Amino acid sequence: MTATTRPTALVTGGSRGIGAATSRELAARGYRVAVNYFSNRDAAEQVVAAIEEGGGEAFAVQADVFDPGQAAELIRRSAPDGRLDVLVCNAGAGFTPTPVLDLPWDDFKAKLTNELGSAYTLTQQALAIMGARGQGRIVYVSSAVADGPPAPGMAAHGTAKAALNTFARFVAFEAGPLGVNVNVVAPGFVRTEASAHMPQELQRRLAERTPLGRVAEAEDVARAIAMLVGEQAGFVTGEVLTVDGGHGVARM
Ligand SMILES: NC(=O)c1ccc[n+]([C@@H]2O[C@H](COP(=O)([O-])OP(=O)(O)OC[C@H]3O[C@@H](n4cnc5c(N)ncnc54)[C@H](OP(=O)(O)O)[C@@H]3O)[C@@H](O)[C@H]2O)c1
Repeated sequence: MTATTRPTALVTGGSRGIGAATSRELAARGYRVAVNYFSNRDAAEQVVAAIEEGGGEAFAVQADVFDPGQAAELIRRSAPDGRLDVLVCNAGAGFTPTPVLDLPWDDFKAKLTNELGSAYTLTQQALAIMGARGQGRIVYVSSAVADGPPAPGMAAHGTAKAALNTFARFVAFEAGPLGVNVNVVAPGFVRTEASAHMPQELQRRLAERTPLGRVAEAEDVARAIAMLVGEQAGFVTGEVLTVDGGHGVARM
């Protein structure tokens, strides 16, 4: 397969954690992957190198997706030949769980603005390209905490992700006639650097309370994303797919 025949996928925050696993998974499935990163260029280049060693194609693209101008430019740089088949809105900034009583409005607002603002701009720009070709897939990485039982200190994060889930439904409604499917993956706890602060004992208890008997690895989420952008999900749009090993079911 030559470079020009591969479909193109952009993974925001594609350099570490869930995004890195998604970049590798999509590359293994034949996509040319734009691996977006913010500050850690080495991590992005390692993902690109691993993909290339496996015979795939990828390139690193630096951009702060929380900045609307950079997010718009990221789409253009990721689709230099005017082709973008898949957009995975995954990038998320780390945060410290904080109760509402201790959380200044400006911090709450920043969380909402960053999460939704980046999804909004990336979606607008991607839809223009995908719609012109009459095909495309968008997947947002949300969180099971959005619709699950409230977790301590997660009001800002949960509210932002719940808004993202709702936004996705409206985008799916508008994007369907353009030939673009829009879905959400909502992971429970996933072992990444962002979640490494969770004590091992808590992770062990979480695994015990999960029907599938363990916590998620980034690859579990990556495979769910790959499924949603694959042919088998061609008639699936506007859905939120929870990826938590059944943890949410067990809590009901
Ligand atoms: N881990 C979990 O338990 C969990 C559970 C549910 C949902 N999620 C969601 O999954 C997504 C990924 O989480 P993760 O755990 O994989 O995070 P992670 O390991 O901390 O990786 C974050 C990625 O996002 C990039 N990034 C951060 N800020 C950015 C910005 N402003 N612009 C562009 N890229 C940016 C980082 O790039 P640099 O390294 O260059 O900064 C990195 O590639 C997030 O949306 C998160 O909310 C995670």
